Parts: sequence; C-alpha cells; structure tokens
Amino acid sequence: MSTEAQKPVRRITVPQLAARKGGDPIVSLTSYHAHTAAIVDKHADFILVGDSLGMVMHGMETTVGVPLDLMIMHGRAVVRGTRRALIVVDMPFGTYEESPNMAFRNAAKIMKETGCGAVKLEGGARMAETIHFLVERGIPVMAHTGLTPQSSHVMGGFKTQGRDDETWPAHEEDARAVSEAGAFAVVLEGMVEPLAAKITKQIDIPTIGIGASVECDGQILVLEDMLGLNARPPKFVKVYGDLLNQIETAVESYADDVRARKFPTDDQIYR
Ligand code: KIV
Repeated sequence: MSTEAQKPVRRITVPQLAARKGGDPIVSLTSYHAHTAAIVDKHADFILVGDSLGMVMHGMETTVGVPLDLMIMHGRAVVRGTRRALIVVDMPFGTYEESPNMAFRNAAKIMKETGCGAVKLEGGARMAETIHFLVERGIPVMAHTGLTPQSSHVMGGFKTQGRDDETWPAHEEDARAVSEAGAFAVVLEGMVEPLAAKITKQIDIPTIGIGASVECDGQILVLEDMLGLNARPPKFVKVYGDLLNQIETAVESYADDVRARKFPTDDQIYR
C-alpha cells in the first residue's frame, strides 16, 4: 500500500485545464530553465516555455530569430525540472505558418523531444485550419491572439490591441475561430479590458491574459519581468521581486571579496 507521500504526482492535463473555463483563475508563468521551473511548478497550473526566451535570455531584439532547436533544449530542461504543471512549449516563427503538414512535423518533434504536454502558436482565424489539423492528430494546441509578437514587424511594434472599436470584430472572430478549431485555451496579449472581457464571455475555452485585464480566465507573465530582473518591464507587469538589484549587490560583494582576498576563506577550501 502506498502512503500519501509516496503517491506519484500527476501532471495537470489539458482537459483539466480546459475545464477551468469560468472557474478558479488559472495561474501561469513562463520559465526557461530546470531550476526556476522547479519553483514555479509548485504554484502554477501551466508553465509556458515561451519564445520570449530569445529576448529575455539570448538578447534578441524580437522573437522572430528564435530557432526550433533552442525551444526544444529549453523545453526539455523545464520538463526535467517539473512534476506537476502542464508544460506548454511555443512553436517559434517560421515553424508552423506555411502549412498544416509543416506545423504537424515540428509540433510532433517538440512534443517527442521535450516531453511537453502541448504546444502554443500565434495567430487567430488564419491558423484555424492548422490548429484543427494538429488537434485531430493528437497535438493539444494553445492559441495566442491579440498582440502577437512574432508578427511585430507587420503590426509596427508591440502595440495594445482593440483601442479602436472598429478592430474588435476581427479580434472576436480570431478567438472564436481558434476555439472552434479545437484549441484548449487562448492567450490574449496586450488587449484593452472591455474587448478581453467580451471575448472571454463569448468563447468556450479559457482565456489567459497578459496585459489583457483581470477579466480573463487566467493570467500569465514572463517570470523575469515579475521577478524584477527586467530593468524596463512592460507597463502591465506587477513586479513582485527585486532580483536585478539583488544580483547586482551579490556580484559586487563577491568581486570585492575576491579583490580583498577575503574569498575563499579557510573553511571554503579543500585541504
Ligand atoms: O513567449 C512568451 O513568453 C509568450 C507569453 C508572453 C504569453 O508568448
């Protein structure tokens, strides 16, 4: 007989997450490494290995240059570091837009090589056929509409969506299309509150907001932004930590100690 403590931890599944529509808010953060993912795992329902890692970790200007292999490497690390949360890995730009077949090949590669539970891709109505194709073939898809960073060159930057009422029908149609195509949830990024609220009421799958108000069914933030590691976080980010200053102070203290021959001390060396 196994005791409570011995029971294997079960990962949150895609149907469990989808069933949270209209229920308790869904908690999510990004993570790109095994060690931060292990911490986030205790508190989040799903962890996104976002292609924002290109900008956050690799100093890229946009997410457009992120290669598939990089997503797979970070995805694998996050799966290794976690036991509980559903892990979703972003499909990077250029790996899914061309055709449903191409999307399937790359999504299957991500799932096989990382062990993640789902993939995320950007785009609304124009991606509906691909989403349907993937879901029919066993790949759970989280959609991402509103501000879609991979299209920032077309959009003219990272702009809040829905400020002009005339654009609302297109955004509503995007969310409806991905929901009907079989996506199990949709990220609404950078969207005015009344539009996010309207979409959340209109569709059957959970909406996950990032800069899209509390009206969504859940929230996601980039971990480094909320930890205070980004000197210029987006306006919508609530910063819960002060990591930038803490790291700065720690590194400075270490450098001072080394220069003053205060490190390593006697009890820190092998004899
Ligand atoms: O890449 C990413 O981190 C994302 C989130 C911002 C939703 O797509």
